[in-house]
Amino acid sequence: GLTVAGVAGKFLIGNSLESKPQKWVEVGAATELEIDKVHRITYSVRAQDAWRTAERQGVVYAFTENSETFTVFDATCTHLGCSVQWKEEDNHFACPCHAGQFSREGDVLSGPPPRPLVKLETKLEDGILKVLV
Ligand code: FES
Repeated sequence: GLTVAGVAGKFLIGNSLESKPQKWVEVGAATELEIDKVHRITYSVRAQDAWRTAERQGVVYAFTENSETFTVFDATCTHLGCSVQWKEEDNHFACPCHAGQFSREGDVLSGPPPRPLVKLETKLEDGILKVLV
């Protein structure tokens, strides 16, 4: 008898959607982040894809309540991508584009933003706080 074994062909189609390579960037010495104060940090990273190297810049906001756990947000507004600003006197983040407001914890307080600010992954390495951007 003749047996034909079926071979299930499975083709993995590469995900061609543009995904930016993620990088760890230094926020600074963990002990220098003043407790309960929101810090604005700008970064610039070199990102390489198959064809070129590009410089990517961004802004994050970091704060800690105990120098042990750290909260870091991407400053990009979840509405249309403007850069939010921390308003110390009002204790919230404000977006200059359409007046969106976020709490210090990143939650939407008012305005058109549909989602909270994006929280970034953090890690401590030799006392240096790093964030994945
Ligand atoms: Fe921030 Fe519209 S982009 S409220």
